[in-house]
Amino acid sequence: MRTAITEMFGIRHPIIQGGMHFVGFAELASAVSNAGGLGIITGLTQKTPELLAREIARCRDMTDEPFGVNLTFLPALKAPPYPEYIAAIVEGGVKIVETAGRSPEQYLPPLKAAGIKIIHKCTSVRHSLKAERIGCDAVSVDGFECGGHPGEDDVPNFILLPRAADELKIPFVASGGMADGRSLVAAMALGAAGMNMGTRFIATKEAPVHDNLKRAIVAASELDTRLIMRALRNTERVLKNAAVDRIVATERDKGTALTFADIEEQVAGVYPRIMLEGEMDAGAFSCGMVAGLIHDIPTVAELVARIMAEAEHLIRDRLAGFLGRAPAPAEKVA
Ligand SMILES: Cc1cc2nc3c(=O)[nH]c(=O)nc-3n(C[C@H](O)[C@H](O)[C@H](O)COP(=O)(O)O)c2cc1C
Repeated sequence: MRTAITEMFGIRHPIIQGGMHFVGFAELASAVSNAGGLGIITGLTQKTPELLAREIARCRDMTDEPFGVNLTFLPALKAPPYPEYIAAIVEGGVKIVETAGRSPEQYLPPLKAAGIKIIHKCTSVRHSLKAERIGCDAVSVDGFECGGHPGEDDVPNFILLPRAADELKIPFVASGGMADGRSLVAAMALGAAGMNMGTRFIATKEAPVHDNLKRAIVAASELDTRLIMRALRNTERVLKNAAVDRIVATERDKGTALTFADIEEQVAGVYPRIMLEGEMDAGAFSCGMVAGLIHDIPTVAELVARIMAEAEHLIRDRLAGFLGRAPAPAEKVA
């Protein structure tokens, strides 16, 4: 399947693995790239730029295919040393960066000068157009369904993607709620040139996280996520657990008076315990509604091959089959 995204990034399949804190290590990124998609290392999971340089080198040892690095610009009391992380990316020879969070504008010049392609993750048409205007090469349009930070506009992908298609000139991928060949074909019908997946890639053999997390995603339904931190305008979609129940209760009590300190214990620095130690109630962690579509823990190669085979079947047989042939009266159409 050739699209503007496979061409831009030099990949075989239009499938991207979004940056994920304490999941996007070299093991997962290289597995996705080896399977023909675009794997992405999560930059800030590496505590220092030196450690990111090591992770990039590790990933290069595991794949000859293109891979990217995610740089997330979130509100923080003390900003990480972004210019030094960017230097590690440039010196590591990485040619694709996924940016997310705040506008990457001030960091684009050194990335562009190194010939790096930028795909910015946005949760609105407004921000997507801004990304296009400041010189990003592509956008990852992240609908309200998504795991992680869906923004504050709450527009699901059935509306957001065609709205983006109507306005954007640069290519975009659909992000949020994507799991299988059906997702990919639907996203492409709505105007996307591929898809970005987060939660689905956690439940794979190569994701270097605790089995408890993979099993929790498989066990979860589409009803098991919650939105937290709305009053702080930093909304996050997370998997329901004991810590999230406490956050939701605190948020109900405090209302608009909520401060970060009220929920800090359940949110700050909890990822290593959850992702690596498998302590599933240690705090809140991102997870998409797409958990309801995830029923197994395949290898990344099996997952990608299955998605592409299903997408091809849907396009060639199901969709093309609706054209040029009247169904017999008793034939099931749907
Ligand atoms: C556990 C987890 C951690 C994530 N961490 C980040 C992150 O650090 N930076 C980022 O830009 N996106 C992050 N995301 C968002 C994903 O890159 C992706 O946009 C999102 O998961 C897409 O929605 P989906 O989960 O429905 O596929 C995270 C998602 C998950 C599930």
